[in-house]
Amino acid sequence: MEELLKTGITLKDHDESRQGEALMLDGKQGNTKGRKLYIESYGCAMNFSDSEIVASVMIDMGFETTANYKEADVIFINTCSIRENAEQRVRNRLREFGAIKKTKKDAVIGVLGCMAERLKAKFLEEEKLVDLVVGPDAYRDLPSLINQADEGAKAVNVLLSREETYADISPIRLNSNGISAFISIMRGCDNMCSFCVVPFTRGRERSRDAHSIVQEAKELSQAGYREVTLLGQNVDSYKWASEDGSQSVNFAQLLAMVAEVDPQMRVRFSTSHPKDITDEVLHTMAKYHNICKYIHLPVQSGNSRILEKMNRTYDREWYLERVDAIRGILPNCAISTDVIVGFCSETEEEHHDTLSIMKLVGYDFAYMFKYSERPGTLAAKRFEDDVPEEVKSRRLDEVIAQQQASAHQQLQKQIGKVQEVLIDGYSKKSKHDFSGRNDQNATVIFPVDERFQPGNYVKVLAESCTKATLIGKIID
Ligand code: SAH
Ligand code: SF4
Ligand code: F3S
Repeated sequence: MEELLKTGITLKDHDESRQGEALMLDGKQGNTKGRKLYIESYGCAMNFSDSEIVASVMIDMGFETTANYKEADVIFINTCSIRENAEQRVRNRLREFGAIKKTKKDAVIGVLGCMAERLKAKFLEEEKLVDLVVGPDAYRDLPSLINQADEGAKAVNVLLSREETYADISPIRLNSNGISAFISIMRGCDNMCSFCVVPFTRGRERSRDAHSIVQEAKELSQAGYREVTLLGQNVDSYKWASEDGSQSVNFAQLLAMVAEVDPQMRVRFSTSHPKDITDEVLHTMAKYHNICKYIHLPVQSGNSRILEKMNRTYDREWYLERVDAIRGILPNCAISTDVIVGFCSETEEEHHDTLSIMKLVGYDFAYMFKYSERPGTLAAKRFEDDVPEEVKSRRLDEVIAQQQASAHQQLQKQIGKVQEVLIDGYSKKSKHDFSGRNDQNATVIFPVDERFQPGNYVKVLAESCTKATLIGKIID
């Protein structure tokens, strides 16, 4: 995780710290063949959400799942291409998985997701132990691809689709605490940020049927879930219309529809694009108590020339105007960001514009990255990756220091205030403390009170804070 640095982050909806988690479930469903599947996911929440679709397809085929790859018959690795080190991590892991073939000759190793899409059949040449290469829009084809692999053939399906949303497939919730779940509302991305590989790995943007989203939210509510996060690369451009054209739903309307499913179920979403986030969305957030007051609004850079080169289609002033709109309509809303340092030709002065915008906005959380050139992107074709590695590292240190200061300041503002906290579980450090999150997605730690359990909402008075966590106590 050398490049991904998180400061004051607790959000789960975009948390690459979950990379490499083994996803497991109890394996009770299906079992006609009793073969075992192990699946490991890397990258963004969309990938974790896709693994839940994959598990559903595989369980329908009769697979059980296992949390131990050594006992698996099929090993899937759902991959990310966003930065070079994300791909490196996957290749290292594949070496470990490959060793299993020495003892289990018919084990099948499949590479899914964004790296599969980026490298296509080339993957089979580069990594000889891989049997399957499956892109993010091809998961319905897994039964036939597994059959081909079983017959000893190498199988590849990396077709991207303009329609696929997996709307009718019920995800199998993996590694779930039974409290929070993701709902994919769209796939792909039609933006062409010059640094970004996602449009190439995920294809064209398409929105999922609004009714299937509401239905999934209802099922989660009935199953006792207390928080859903609506996922898309650019949720503000969500747009769905019924086939006969009689109904169309934009993101603000979808938010309202999901919020109305269950007032006791929190609604979060990610990611908002600064060029597309509307006042209508902000007013909808203000109207519903259960839509969390938290927006992930990646700025990438604080300098307008760099933003133009990045093809973000907004400038510094536009971004700051959107932040003002958020502050005006939602005074208590937390804002988080993504920042890239050392993009092609970034000068010292331009880097300082990033530091200054971070200071001006005062982000609650931030994900900060060194620019990593991705093959095939506009930036790779047109610009030179000319900021030296040591300069990138130093700039990254500077944005981290800035963010640590902002995050701490934001937390301190909460001290003395009563927070509505959803209990997620127990503190990692002590079984005597609960850990939960407030509306703004800050982690709050407080002593266990036997009247409550994970999944409950409690009122917590914040009394102090560490660098990234509020400390408090339950009040009646
Ligand atoms: N759709 C989201 C971003 C998804 S990728 C958005 O538009 O905001 C998550 C983050 O990874 C991006 O916001 C960006 O900060 C970072 N990222 C993407 N490509 C990168 C690259 N080539 N090098 C470094 N960071 C990158
Ligand atoms: Fe990548 Fe830009 Fe699309 Fe985000 S909006 S996924 S950064 S191309
Ligand atoms: Fe990575 Fe693909 Fe997500 S490149 S960040 S897993 S969309």
